Amino acid sequence: MFKETDTIVDHDHELKERIVSLKKEKNAILLAHYYQVPEIQDIADFVGDSLGLSQKAAGTSADMIIFAGVHFMAETAKILNPAIKVVLPDLNAGCSLADSCPKDKFAAFKARYPDHIVISYINCSADIKTMSDVICTSGNAVQIVESYPVEQKIIFAPDKNLGGYINRITGRNMVLWNGTCEVHDILSTEAIIKLKIENPNALLIAHPECKAAVLELADFVGSTTAMLKFTMTNSAKKFIVATETGILHQMKKNSPEKEFLIVPTDKTCSCNDCPYMKLNTLEKLYLCIKNEKPEIKLTDEVISKAKKPILKMLEISKKMNLIK
Ligand code: 13P
Ligand code: SF4
Repeated sequence: MFKETDTIVDHDHELKERIVSLKKEKNAILLAHYYQVPEIQDIADFVGDSLGLSQKAAGTSADMIIFAGVHFMAETAKILNPAIKVVLPDLNAGCSLADSCPKDKFAAFKARYPDHIVISYINCSADIKTMSDVICTSGNAVQIVESYPVEQKIIFAPDKNLGGYINRITGRNMVLWNGTCEVHDILSTEAIIKLKIENPNALLIAHPECKAAVLELADFVGSTTAMLKFTMTNSAKKFIVATETGILHQMKKNSPEKEFLIVPTDKTCSCNDCPYMKLNTLEKLYLCIKNEKPEIKLTDEVISKAKKPILKMLEISKKMNLIK
């Protein structure tokens, strides 16, 4: 029997029920990223990519946002809806891309290119957002870049893989910050080639945070939402998936008749779980909603400066019909 205590509780079913009822009682909304464990995705009010999640966070009238994702995502929710309490089950749920771009080093880098604007991938800290002209996600990065004239000089931060991909497909020459996602950057090209040979009818779908060699081999490149939609609408029966394992839950749920093969890493294990996303557990989620902490806190100054480039992204995305 479940006990009302703040210690770790191991009864998944009962925990889920408690979370759902606390959510109702506290008028809270649970937003979850696709890389969360299936049991969290299944009780979320919305599961999505960074673009969809920011939109939901901006538009909610809930009293509290429980963000089952990583720190920069919860920060973005707070920036977009500062009057609402935003909590994250584990404050250590960071992101290697965000961590690769410390504010002082980025300020010095930016100062070297005074005639460039800054387009930052949403996977960065609130401080980096305050130094950016516009934010993008993997769901709108190409369109955001293309909304600027070709002669516009641009710094793109912090993901060099995503930035390089955009440079190649748009013919731009953006200056790239040297950051990578520790999960996507080590997906193995050799394993992909082997999987392609063994499964000649399978399509390779990849997240743009993967390195160039992987993206070159892909039949489709897109955000997590775009990859999911592709598997639902394409007639292929088998997909080789180059991203974090959490996405397989929705893919299998939406297309149970199809087969999904996850690309392993080039380390000896095939553990391409994001170590930060996977810090969130049902137990931590329960304690977080119950105790309403850990809470995301930002100064008014950071919120007001970081909000501008995010709103600009949402405005461009609406204009281009990428979001409603
Ligand atoms: P998406 O916005 O495509 O879901 O990507 C977020 C992310 O962190 C990928 O590693
Ligand atoms: Fe960051 Fe990579 Fe994890 Fe996404 S998968 S949150 S980019 S470390």
